[in-house]
Amino acid sequence: MLNPEIEKRKTFAIISHPDAGKTTLTEKFLLFGGAINTAGAVKRNKANQSNTSDFMEIEKQRGISVATSVMGFEYSGKRINILDTPGHKDFAEDTYRTLSAVDSVILVVDCVKGVEEQTEKLMSVCRMRNTPVIIFINKMDREGKEAYDLLDEIEEKLNISLCPLSWPIGQGHTFKGVYSIYNKHLNLFNSDKTKVTDSVVAANDLNDPSLLNYLKENEINTLKDDVELVDGIYGKIDKDLYTDGLVAPVFFGSAINNFGIKELLDTFIDIAPSPRHREAEERDVLVGEKNFSGFVFKIHANLDPKHRDRIAFLRICSGKFERNKFYYHTRQDKKLKFSNPMDFMANEKSIVEEAWPGDVVGLYDSGNFKIGDTLTEGEKLQFKGIPSFSPSIFKEVENMDPMRTKQLEKGIEQLTDEGVAQLFVMQPGNRKVIGAVGELQFEVINFRLEHEYGAKCRFRTLSYTRSSWVTSTDRKKLEEFVKRKQQHIGFDKEANPVYLADSEYMINLTKQDYPDIEFHKTSEFK
Ligand code: G4P
Repeated sequence: MLNPEIEKRKTFAIISHPDAGKTTLTEKFLLFGGAINTAGAVKRNKANQSNTSDFMEIEKQRGISVATSVMGFEYSGKRINILDTPGHKDFAEDTYRTLSAVDSVILVVDCVKGVEEQTEKLMSVCRMRNTPVIIFINKMDREGKEAYDLLDEIEEKLNISLCPLSWPIGQGHTFKGVYSIYNKHLNLFNSDKTKVTDSVVAANDLNDPSLLNYLKENEINTLKDDVELVDGIYGKIDKDLYTDGLVAPVFFGSAINNFGIKELLDTFIDIAPSPRHREAEERDVLVGEKNFSGFVFKIHANLDPKHRDRIAFLRICSGKFERNKFYYHTRQDKKLKFSNPMDFMANEKSIVEEAWPGDVVGLYDSGNFKIGDTLTEGEKLQFKGIPSFSPSIFKEVENMDPMRTKQLEKGIEQLTDEGVAQLFVMQPGNRKVIGAVGELQFEVINFRLEHEYGAKCRFRTLSYTRSSWVTSTDRKKLEEFVKRKQQHIGFDKEANPVYLADSEYMINLTKQDYPDIEFHKTSEFK
């Protein structure tokens, strides 16, 4: 039996292609949880703007209200932790890292657009860790693709089996509501964007004549046929397959209209997994272990020059975290204690005395942490599951102010520790190359180097667009490869060799020429 404190925790992220409705859904969850009172309270943390100054403005606001990174609330006796992920695709790596700290996800799909590019990428990251996924098909108040077509498209493009747990009655202007296959009740459409409304009709039996008070006969008949068909095609939900990440339950609704959200939330807290065991390099860490352990998955810099502290977000994996207790920083081999750890409830942060597995605490940090760092009660552990992915843009750093070389080096080192971008060192000459997913990250680095470190640099674009971490069971062969391909080799922060290439084609050619070398798309391949 697990400690009830652990059992009651549900830590997850809502993810989507930009504009599918992640922010709106998050907000509705908070409304149901009583964590906020009116819609519009959750600031849209999306930098749709491709322009740096807008982005910086948003980052500044977020620097002040870091609470939006984690939104905790109580609902139906459970403690729900929603981890926020950035919407902008240039910051996709931040999202991938956040996914390492959750126990499940809700993936939002726009019923008009179907599966989009970012949806596929996010799903592939979930698959790497077998993260359980629930799919919410949003915007059913709009004329979109047919429900059956959407399910086919999702199954095919996301390569996952589905099991609908709710079903729409009509769509677009004929959208009447959703029938909860899981709870067997009918929720009728009542477009109220600001309040939580309750228009649930119990419908254990779809043949009940009283349903005619709510729906037309032909609508009831279509629903009956659909429910029968769905049962025939998809069957009943197998919770174990869901928890293993092999089947995704599906819900339909309209987030903006508060519709289908309660079905989703109620079923979510029923079936979504509580915190589970985690893999460390050394061993599996069980969630019920007595000793505390946790890892840092995100570092939030405070852009306010008056408050330079960074906040490291720590996901607790086992034991109990306590304020003012010394913990062991396994990478630095030193003990640290935290007098002001923060807990995040909806939009407020407060000092927390103790926290449990599944919780995320914010630790003030003056430069001790980098992404992936592990804290324990003394055991040497390193949690796995926070890989770096291949960047698509590579630029060499050129120092513009030789008098400030030290500051530039420190800045680059710290910003890449925070996970803003990746650093590779190339020979000869220890040249520093930054790899990032989007152009915006280079602008952020430039801005922050100048404002926080007083250093100036210029970026020279390189022709590479792909990278692969390279290994070999034959050490000699690897050394030979690294030597031969020197002009294409960068070393990451852990001094692992990475092969940089202009195209996937180049990587494939090189693979053929060097059959003893293994090429890996992410930094975690053990
Ligand atoms: P994101 O975080 O995934 O990027 O999406 P967000 O929630 O910001 O939603 C993107 C747009 O879709 C918003 O409109 C939002 O109002 C709208 N939306 C969300 N859910 C629904 C829904 O169920 N039905 C319909 N029809 N629209 C929905 P916007 O015009 O971009 O912004 P706003 O001015 O409404 O905030």
